[in-house]
Amino acid sequence: MKRAIEKVLKGRPTIEGAGVRLKRAFGFDEAPELDPFLMLDDFHSGNPDDYLAGFPWHPHRGIETVTYMLEGRVEHGDSMGNKGMLGPGDVQWMTAGSGIIHQEMPKGENGNMWGFQLWVNLPASHKMMDPRYREVKNEEIREVEIGEETSVRVISGELRGVRGPVRDLVVDVEYLDVTMGQGSEFEHAIRKGNRTLAYVVRGSGYFDSEKKSPIIPEHLVIFTDGDSVRIRAQDEGLRFLLLSGKPLGEPVAWYGPIVMNTEEELEVAFREYRNGTFIKHKVR
Ligand code: CO
Repeated sequence: MKRAIEKVLKGRPTIEGAGVRLKRAFGFDEAPELDPFLMLDDFHSGNPDDYLAGFPWHPHRGIETVTYMLEGRVEHGDSMGNKGMLGPGDVQWMTAGSGIIHQEMPKGENGNMWGFQLWVNLPASHKMMDPRYREVKNEEIREVEIGEETSVRVISGELRGVRGPVRDLVVDVEYLDVTMGQGSEFEHAIRKGNRTLAYVVRGSGYFDSEKKSPIIPEHLVIFTDGDSVRIRAQDEGLRFLLLSGKPLGEPVAWYGPIVMNTEEELEVAFREYRNGTFIKHKVR
């Protein structure tokens, strides 16, 4: 059965970090319905005042943060000793697990900055796992051509025999960046029961068979359950991020950058952060 549209959400202007202006596709209020996904932010601006303040040192525990860049650069560093620069097309997949402290400072390029950050929840069994950090360079992400009109960058998951470079995930998330030509169609099988979302980046298109009104950039499509999706690009083509993952079905206790299962675990996390015992991993 084809998945239909359950709901469409418009990205909300939000200020985060030390004063970064971004669009939040979904977050705290919507997350219970979008399990295993917690949040998706779209940082898109041609004005450095919107992003240069960045996200100075802050903790995470109990989640994975997935950063995907389209334009500009982000300088990063963390308590595990990773540091460097993310550029266009790069992905940073960070499993905070028991805790990581990091900073993420957008630098832009010629004033432009465009990137996405997705938060994926971790199951209770893995919330306190050792943190893991993976950086995937643009060149390591393979592009699958479908017909003449559609190309798909496979970040995680599998498409036509091509597996994305981000593997061994705790929560099996499929993350595709799909670009379609004018009027073309893309049909894709997705395991029944998986929460499935599409976020429009450019152009416009139809995400179900009713084709009532095209979905435009900065809008998120939440699909009903089913076996597959079928998407049709409008005249100007279409680019969107396609996400799917199996719901955890566990209680969520969330405050700021930390997401646990109980209020008590949250209190422990913030107490540890205050008294300097938050980090459990070896410090290089
Ligand atoms: Co962060």
